[in-house]
Amino acid sequence: MSAQVESKPQDENIVWHQHAVDQAQRSEQKRQRPVVLWFTGLSGAGKSTIAGALENLLVARGQHTYLLDGDNVRHGLCRDLGFSSQDRRENIRRIGEVAKLMSDAGLIVLTAFISPHRQERQLVRDLLPDGDFIEVYVDTPLDECEKRDPKGLYKKARAGEIKNFTGIDSEYESPENPEIHLQAGSASVEALAQECLDKLVELKVVQA
Ligand code: ADX
Repeated sequence: MSAQVESKPQDENIVWHQHAVDQAQRSEQKRQRPVVLWFTGLSGAGKSTIAGALENLLVARGQHTYLLDGDNVRHGLCRDLGFSSQDRRENIRRIGEVAKLMSDAGLIVLTAFISPHRQERQLVRDLLPDGDFIEVYVDTPLDECEKRDPKGLYKKARAGEIKNFTGIDSEYESPENPEIHLQAGSASVEALAQECLDKLVELKVVQA
């Protein structure tokens, strides 16, 4: 990791150790440009599904990837966190740091988290060198997400059985300038994944 983008530890006696093998060497070995593809959107918008389909396309092209998924990460690394604003902030902070480590390892990282607050998404953007954070807004209207309701959670939220549910009684702040904006309400998963791939070619992340 380039030392200039490290964040500050709490203790002033902790000093950054610059190792000999760096991100440039690791990405050269993998013959790719490591980036973080940050999928954001409502629950049920299709973030995990589209990110998974894009990961398939990337792996088929020989890229080295890792997909961090909200529900899965909440089984382990973030199992102690709930859905208050404070916990969501900590969730995103941790994922941001993990994504940064993985991109330092030379991987193309895909993340699928609601990440409802602009401030936290900006915080992750600021952790990474310019151009390495690619925000993908999975823009599916709330009524469509609610109609899909794959896990039955909207129904529970409407019944008051789940509190702080995004889009119902907890806000979602949509991205103002995402690098990729997917109108994901009606298009197919395959078409949306291909749209992402085309954009990655345009951004010179991967070759045509
Ligand atoms: S985030 O807001 O902190 O980014 P994250 O993406 O990790 O959320 O987790 C969202 C997933 O948790 C949803 O897809 C849903 O399955 C589940 N979930 C459970 N409770 C809630 C809630 N109150 N709000 C949103 N999602 C919830």
